[in-house]
Amino acid sequence: MAKKTIANVDVKGKAVLIRVDFNVPLDENGNVTDDRRIRMALPTITSVLERGGKVILMSHLGRPKDAPDAKFTLKPAADRLAELLPNNKVTFAADTVGDDAKAKVAALGEGEVVVLENLRFQPGEKKGDPEFAKQLAAFADVYVNDAFGTCHRTDASMVAVPEAMAGKPKVCGFLVEKEIKYLTDTISNPARPFVAILGGAKVSDKIMVIKNLLGICDKVLIGGAMAYTFSLAQGGKVGKSLVEPDKVDLAKELLAEGGDKLVLPIDTHAGDAFSADCNKQIVAAGEIADDYEGLDIGPKTAELYCSIVKGAKTVVWNGPMGVCEMPPFDEGTKAVAQAIAESDAVSIIGGGDSAAAIQKLGFADKVTHVSTGGGASLAMLEGKKFAAVDLLDE
Ligand code: 3PG
Repeated sequence: MAKKTIANVDVKGKAVLIRVDFNVPLDENGNVTDDRRIRMALPTITSVLERGGKVILMSHLGRPKDAPDAKFTLKPAADRLAELLPNNKVTFAADTVGDDAKAKVAALGEGEVVVLENLRFQPGEKKGDPEFAKQLAAFADVYVNDAFGTCHRTDASMVAVPEAMAGKPKVCGFLVEKEIKYLTDTISNPARPFVAILGGAKVSDKIMVIKNLLGICDKVLIGGAMAYTFSLAQGGKVGKSLVEPDKVDLAKELLAEGGDKLVLPIDTHAGDAFSADCNKQIVAAGEIADDYEGLDIGPKTAELYCSIVKGAKTVVWNGPMGVCEMPPFDEGTKAVAQAIAESDAVSIIGGGDSAAAIQKLGFADKVTHVSTGGGASLAMLEGKKFAAVDLLDE
């Protein structure tokens, strides 16, 4: 990638405004239940701190309605960051661009951090408002985008803020650099065979990803409920399975376009209700009984997919193979995750459900890269360009 990173900027004594994606899950007591997005931003943050920079962090959390809402405060994320940086002073500003933020930014010393309150408490953030952006831009000498999970958005902090910092450095953080390396560079120049495994409920959610990857992969393996819409398109019996009847024509087009590159399940693990203790059947694909629904790929499909993964040199996985939160319908997802973990291929796990699954199964450190982006990694797999990245310094 030809983009400059924070490593290329002299930050000594400078105020560095870093857009991070601290949109992390919280429990009912407001504790962070998965701090991966915070930990993944640490290389950028510590690089600035260790070189005598002053760090101002901005992020959104959740989808508050353009106004302060205690449920969506970034304070728990700031507290978690403070625990991860025991040797640095980390403060939290109770507003985003108000008096507290201004005072805490002005008081910031070298090697110190201030976390601003949720950007989405301000109506200007989602609107991309240049006036709001100017207030944030005025805080700093350097802009860094390390919010990969938000790179597909054009919110003020992603686009209008760097635009308002004309003449000042605007660079990638190390997380964004790494995500782009795997989700764009590796994928556009892959070691072959290159295999994609795509799961999830709806063909409509993955259509652009399937189209883009059919153009560059050697095989695209389909799992999850979207396989039943493909089965319907082939004239199969899908029982009560989740399908999108209005996407059958689209599925037919993809089948024609994909030819033998597009691999569909050969068997299905079905149940007579959406519950773990339902009656179960393993049937050939397209042979699901009227009162049953497909809930996972069957064992023969798992074996087939694992053997294809075994021969691959590059693997991209996005979306579970079945209802992976409801055993025993997690078996297909588990088998595929294990095959990826055991393979020697460069393995890239898209964010969202597949990232959660690989972590839960304990394989996260056995794959090459687990993306921190949900919608962003999907958009990147679709081959989309991001304005928030394009405008950064070359
Ligand atoms: C995400 O979790 O995908 C990102 O933080 C973006 O959040 P958003 O979909 O609310 O913009």
